[in-house]
Amino acid sequence: MSFDRQLRLGMVGGGEGAYIGNIHRFASRLDGVWQLVAGAFDVDPARGRAFALSQGITEDRSYGTYQELIAGEKDRADRVDAVAICTPNFTHYPIAKALIEAGFDVICEKPLTATLEDGVALEALARESGRFVGVTYTYSGYPMVHDARVRVARGDIGAVRSLQVEYPLEWMATAIEQQGNAQAAWRTDPKKNGRGGSIGDIGTHAYHLAGFVTGLKLQALSADLATFVQGRALDDNAHVMMRYEGGARGLLWCSQVAIGNSNGVRLRVFGETGSFQWFQEQPNELVYTPLNGRVQLIKRGADDLSEDAKVRTRTPPGHPEGYLEAFANLYAGFGEAIRARHAGRDPGPLGQNLPLAYDGLKGVAFVEAVVDSAEGDLPAWVRPVAR
Ligand code: NAI
Repeated sequence: MSFDRQLRLGMVGGGEGAYIGNIHRFASRLDGVWQLVAGAFDVDPARGRAFALSQGITEDRSYGTYQELIAGEKDRADRVDAVAICTPNFTHYPIAKALIEAGFDVICEKPLTATLEDGVALEALARESGRFVGVTYTYSGYPMVHDARVRVARGDIGAVRSLQVEYPLEWMATAIEQQGNAQAAWRTDPKKNGRGGSIGDIGTHAYHLAGFVTGLKLQALSADLATFVQGRALDDNAHVMMRYEGGARGLLWCSQVAIGNSNGVRLRVFGETGSFQWFQEQPNELVYTPLNGRVQLIKRGADDLSEDAKVRTRTPPGHPEGYLEAFANLYAGFGEAIRARHAGRDPGPLGQNLPLAYDGLKGVAFVEAVVDSAEGDLPAWVRPVAR
């Protein structure tokens, strides 16, 4: 079977009123690599089928449940090539497991699973089955994030000494989960979200971004979690101190109650001979400062960028690209990886350095360690006494 054609995408979740499903639909469409042809979009089967029809999906592929999708697609000659999972965290594992066991490739939302046990099992299943499992760590889709990764790896700032990474949001600064907000409701329910509130929801993005750019491997962490909104069952603010192999240090802050911030993902990396800074609200720029030098703005689209950045760039410099294009880069990369596997060749640069099942598992293990650390009250709290 040739995979030089458009790839066929199925989707579970992401129905009427959902958040991330729409982003997947925009992103998968952008380069013409994927075509959405089937879906079980909603926890309510009738609503899901109606939504599928509204998206132009044919009646026979508008499914009520993911089990129906698997049964309906499995033996079709034109079956879907991969299925995107855009549902709340606790459902990722059973849905992904069923899909992989039925022979489908999977594109799964983060965090990979709601529990470490499920994460370990899913990663093992992905590895042993040989199925492709991509994880949508959005921020690793940006061209300037790739450029930073290449520059750090080739030694532009020397060995990394420390990093600061943050993901502040404000949308849960009040108890919106008690006022009918669907997204906040499952995110604050430990059974549906997992043990880590803000740390699982957005801390995992920050953790992945920091590791992706620096290549550093986390050795140990010490965390302080807080729940500021009364009645909330999970953390909505996290501070994490991180020690990386080789001695580098990191600080991660994420918050769902940081008023004035909306998706202000920021990474600062300090090395022996320079530093980089990337801020997702100015995603087309990378700030570089060499030791004893001037602050430099490296802009997306410039001639001297890495190949990794160039293949992820669509428009000339000055025409802004952003979130949807970054997400589309992940989809184009997943498509390239799947095509390469079928053709028995190495993937091109777009299909490399992608977030896969093991990266997803590392994220889940990170959340688990953060919550363990915070519950154990591990840092030595010392009261400063001035006299
Ligand atoms: P949401 O609550 O807006 O949407 C969830 C959708 O899944 C709804 O349409 C619901 O009906 C459907 N659903 C639930 N159970 C289902 C089942 N068993 N079968 C079929 N459909 C089912 O949630 P949201 O905010 O879109 O988050 C979904 C996932 O995406 C989460 O894992 C979240 O962490 C992740 N996410 C990732 C982001 C990123 O930047 N990569 C950003 C936002 C969310």
